[in-house]
Amino acid sequence: MKISLAPLQGYTDWVFKRAYQKYIGGVDEFYTPFLVLQNGGDLKTAHKREVEPFSEKSDNLIPQFLCGSVEEMSFFESYFSDLGYSKMNWNLGCPYPMVTKRGKGSGLLPYPEKIGNIITEGFKDKIELSIKMRLGLTDGNEIHEVLKALDQFNIKEIIIHPRIGKQLYKGTANRGKFAQLYNEYGKKFAYNGDINSCQDFEVLSKEIPCLNHLMIGRGILKDFWLPHKIKGLELPTDSERKIILKKVHDEIYETYSSYLSGDNQVLQKVKPFWEYFSCHFETERKVYKAIKKASGLKKYEQAVSFAFSQNLKED
Ligand SMILES: Cc1cc2nc3c(=O)[nH]c(=O)nc-3n(C[C@H](O)[C@H](O)[C@H](O)COP(=O)(O)O)c2cc1C
Repeated sequence: MKISLAPLQGYTDWVFKRAYQKYIGGVDEFYTPFLVLQNGGDLKTAHKREVEPFSEKSDNLIPQFLCGSVEEMSFFESYFSDLGYSKMNWNLGCPYPMVTKRGKGSGLLPYPEKIGNIITEGFKDKIELSIKMRLGLTDGNEIHEVLKALDQFNIKEIIIHPRIGKQLYKGTANRGKFAQLYNEYGKKFAYNGDINSCQDFEVLSKEIPCLNHLMIGRGILKDFWLPHKIKGLELPTDSERKIILKKVHDEIYETYSSYLSGDNQVLQKVKPFWEYFSCHFETERKVYKAIKKASGLKKYEQAVSFAFSQNLKED
């Protein structure tokens, strides 16, 4: 079973990926949060940082992009292939109105012909193309027409998060619908959505025993060793876990501090990290509250010391 880390804008950036890979491991593939062209046709520096410079460590990193036109598809394919990537992932799932209104992310799902046209005219097969998508924008059956439109192209893989765009993150992922699609359309599908424990994984694998790629987002951020547990890899002891978690935190904190300027910029990055990271601690609410309250890096560091004086949740 291949396990990949889902992209979460604002959480799973290059800083997180580097620290996670160095100290935890167990994840086979990483996806960048989406890159998108700005109105002037440029990429933000923060987005470039996710993919440049390419190094051998980028082999298991798949750049993801949002695109709603032939030109944008063509830009991203050239950009990623020139950097040395051999794969890229098209985001057809993003549910945020700012994105969908511009005909990107899940905003494209009601228009299968347009999706087909973007690929026909814009994609030159220089690198592998995979897609991450939802079931639809407003209707979970939109996916059927989209899959039919995609059938004629060389799409390496389709990662399905079985919610509709309008749901945002509410309700639950529709595993039954995923199982139905998997059985109907073949084995190119990877599953993503609401896998937060080994039990969740067991239920899924009973329904779809042949599944060979699982993408997990929030479940990994809340429990760094979830991939280890699913794969049956050896787990560190409680005291080792605390040391490792501290190392991950410190590396992330130091990296942000090394290139961002001023307390506020660093705090804007590390505070969201604790939204999920605090779930490793028995007193997660207290821990997160202390972090959230911290104004300035000195106070932040005190809150971190407090956090690490607390017990971890039992494994
Ligand atoms: C804060 C946040 C940011 C996200 N950013 C992205 C993104 O950049 N690209 C993407 O394909 N999905 C993005 N997602 C969706 C996740 O990749 C994933 O599909 C979703 O969280 C369901 O999986 P999970 O239940 O394992 O977290 C984001 C989700 C959240 C909550």
